[in-house]
Amino acid sequence: MLGVIGGTGLNDPHFLQEVQLQQVATPYDPQSVQILKGVFQGRPVAFLPRHGQGHKIPPHRINYRANLWALHAIGVNAVIGVNAVGGLHPELGPGALAVPDQIIDYSWGREHTFFADGLEHVTHIDFTHPYDEALRQRLIRACGDTPVLPGGVYACTQGPRLESAAEIQRLQRDGCDMVGMTGMPEAALARELGLAYACLALSVNWAAGISDEEITMEAIGRVLDSGMSTIAAILQRAIQEF
Ligand code: HPA
Repeated sequence: MLGVIGGTGLNDPHFLQEVQLQQVATPYDPQSVQILKGVFQGRPVAFLPRHGQGHKIPPHRINYRANLWALHAIGVNAVIGVNAVGGLHPELGPGALAVPDQIIDYSWGREHTFFADGLEHVTHIDFTHPYDEALRQRLIRACGDTPVLPGGVYACTQGPRLESAAEIQRLQRDGCDMVGMTGMPEAALARELGLAYACLALSVNWAAGISDEEITMEAIGRVLDSGMSTIAAILQRAIQEF
């Protein structure tokens, strides 16, 4: 079954039908994870709003382990993470889409692995290619006529504040193309569980200092509103192919 983790602007699986709430208990959170299971054209899909119902959990407080564990527990084997990002790459102005192929993790202090306690032996996952290539290609095909950057480096910052201009210049020197706050440890935890994982990123602003315009939540909200209907259509095409 395909899982979709919805980011900022995508809290509600309106692109699915027959949606039902499933509460999944996990060893990582006293509260159960709320997954919305639905179908699109007969295909089952599990939807999980990353920031919780009502978008209340900030990026550094998301229980990434509970979320991924719960999806795996109900039979999800492939996950599309939808992420709002700031654009660094010249083609990633507000409203543009990307399916990144690399990631750099600048976040800190997050519970970032299942391989910590009670191990029989130390485990290291291969993360050379952090995203699943077949799922990435499926997502790129599902974009159809909508322009999409078919690769790029996703920088995951800690948040919840946006970056300084100097921090973005550093990310540029590091070769980053987009910056968000929630791509990690999600991608690595998916790999630890053996889940195929890919990211569909929507640029909602130019990253700090790239344009002269001030970054405002109002402007970001406007891009999210129009971008998410495009994303919903792309997800539906990706589900049809799954
Ligand atoms: N920086 C980090 N995360 C983001 C941004 C940004 O500029 N825009 C949307 N998510």
